[in-house]
Amino acid sequence: MSENGADENATSECKASAAPTSAGSCPRCFQGLGERSCGACGLAFEREGRLIDVLGRDPRESDAARVERFYERSPFPGYAPDDDGGTLLDRARRSSFLRALDAALPAQARVLDCGCGTAQLAAFLALAAPRRRVFGLDGCRESLRCAEGFRARVGLENLQLARADLFAMPVRAGSFEVVLSRGVVHHTADPVRAIECVAQCVAPGGVLVLGFYESAARLFHAARRALARPLSTPLRALDPVLRRADLAPEKRRIWIEDQYHHPLERMLAMPAVLAQLERLGFSWLRSVPPGIESGLFEATPRPGPLARARLRLGWCLRGVNDPDAGLVLLLARRGSR
Ligand SMILES: C[S@@+](CC[C@H](N)C(=O)[O-])C[C@H]1O[C@@H](n2cnc3c(N)ncnc32)[C@H](O)[C@@H]1O
Repeated sequence: MSENGADENATSECKASAAPTSAGSCPRCFQGLGERSCGACGLAFEREGRLIDVLGRDPRESDAARVERFYERSPFPGYAPDDDGGTLLDRARRSSFLRALDAALPAQARVLDCGCGTAQLAAFLALAAPRRRVFGLDGCRESLRCAEGFRARVGLENLQLARADLFAMPVRAGSFEVVLSRGVVHHTADPVRAIECVAQCVAPGGVLVLGFYESAARLFHAARRALARPLSTPLRALDPVLRRADLAPEKRRIWIEDQYHHPLERMLAMPAVLAQLERLGFSWLRSVPPGIESGLFEATPRPGPLARARLRLGWCLRGVNDPDAGLVLLLARRGSR
């Protein structure tokens, strides 16, 4: 596990099939789901076992469709064939960030993971506290099938997965105590609006954990990628993930696809993201990195211009050996009404 909890050991083994269990819960009103709609709030969907799809077969906007096709080929991050609840918990608990996140989350919190991919993070949070209610939304059907296969195999009743678009989420504004979105907004055509959509799901007093490619932190990777282009292959010596001796071939393929050939990727500057969140009524809690062992949701002093520059210089320098290639988490708390 890397500093911000990304699951480096998983592979894209997504063959497990989804066995229907109970009816599932509605991401909009949290009541039980019917066969094609929620009896309580009317949310309409198609169903595959307990996985629901609110997008259906309608064509998506072209950038979203391109990104979905990309993840159909490489669901991210995927599970290892022998993954079960125990291995996922063990691996997650080796990450100080994930331990701190689990400890900071109330045991009965409603948690939303926007752009959950194959849902390792959501599954970990659901496994770690059975009374927590975790919802994972993503636009990619294949990633969600993979996630649902794992959910069904492990028998996780407190995790509900849904195919939905970030820009039209089937949830009520302000209804989740904690909202996570790691590695997603920078893969959309409009990251500013994507941040707004994610942020509006957070309840007053709740916490947003937003992970994005930070422009200073990703500078070294941008250079590495530019160098790989004329050579037609990444230079192993320059990439700490590709240098790993234990990297499985499928994991290597997915890493190269994700980091060197992604069809839609932007970088965001932390000061601009912070300013946007502040305009939306959030206040700074912290960033990761630096790493953290405990007190994840406790406020740290808001960095002024000099401290922000120092932070970003530190991220830029650690870029040479950063296994997250410049993914930074920003944690912010929404003001109470
Ligand atoms: C790099 S993966 C991150 C997965 C997961 N959050 C993690 O940290 O492992 C990005 C995910 O964002 C999803 N995504 C991108 N654009 C989206 C959109 N407009 N609506 C919903 N999901 C989207 C993709 O389908 C993909 O699963």
